[in-house]
Amino acid sequence: MTGISALPIGVFDSGVGGLTVLRALRAALPSEDFLYLGDTARLPYGTKSAATVARYAMQAAEALAARGIKCLVVACNTASSVAIPALAVRLAPIPVIGVIEPGAAAAAQATRSGRIAVIATEGTVRGGAYPRSLAALAPHAVVTQKACPLFVALAEEGWTDGPIVEAVVRRYLEPVFSGDAAPDTLLLGCTHFPALVAPIRRIVGQGVTIVDSAETTAAATAAQLARLGLQRAAGIGAVRMMATDGPERFARVGSVFSGEPIAASEVELVDL
Ligand code: DGL
Repeated sequence: MTGISALPIGVFDSGVGGLTVLRALRAALPSEDFLYLGDTARLPYGTKSAATVARYAMQAAEALAARGIKCLVVACNTASSVAIPALAVRLAPIPVIGVIEPGAAAAAQATRSGRIAVIATEGTVRGGAYPRSLAALAPHAVVTQKACPLFVALAEEGWTDGPIVEAVVRRYLEPVFSGDAAPDTLLLGCTHFPALVAPIRRIVGQGVTIVDSAETTAAATAAQLARLGLQRAAGIGAVRMMATDGPERFARVGSVFSGEPIAASEVELVDL
């Protein structure tokens, strides 16, 4: 194994939501080490301007690169939608992978009617990265976007089901999924939304295919590492977690997203 292959994969998100992407990455690449950074001090990114998010993303990427990584996965949809080109230039030759194209590819592959709904943060919707990516992959697709900012707050609070959550989900999604020309595919374009998949499923109905970018991003990362000859072939990888604020909160809420317990003592507090 070369020196570069032995380095960890850097994963960055505005907070704990990206742990859903980390989980998929670990399943796809069990021999790799991961360095995860959640910018919890500045979450949410989804309500901030593109310029601010791009600046935060650059600082997070530089902090990970300074520790030595062989690849950067931007697990945050909002950051991916505004910052990938600049990050790729800044980190070159370290490859940078975002979640927008893999998520769009999953939706393009899933749709039969060509009608796709994308739900995301305000920033991701405003930037239009998903419709652009879908236009390239599925030129005839009809894409409807809907910002669902309250979903982030609900998931952060650990409210992933129940009457209040269902009322909020209904308020956002019922208008999108009513009528004869309703989408047949729903793309969860935000790290936090997979946590609400049960109430989302009840509101949109069984006939809608729900996709997110976690698994396709993991597959894209594995393919990129294989192409560059940077994959680790053996051993069991380890994960190190870093947060810019509140290791205790990161551990508590992050355990829900990662599907396994995280101890606050394992979360390093860092300053960007
Ligand atoms: N990580 C963000 C995203 O995927 C959601 C949380 C936030 O707004 O920072 O868009």
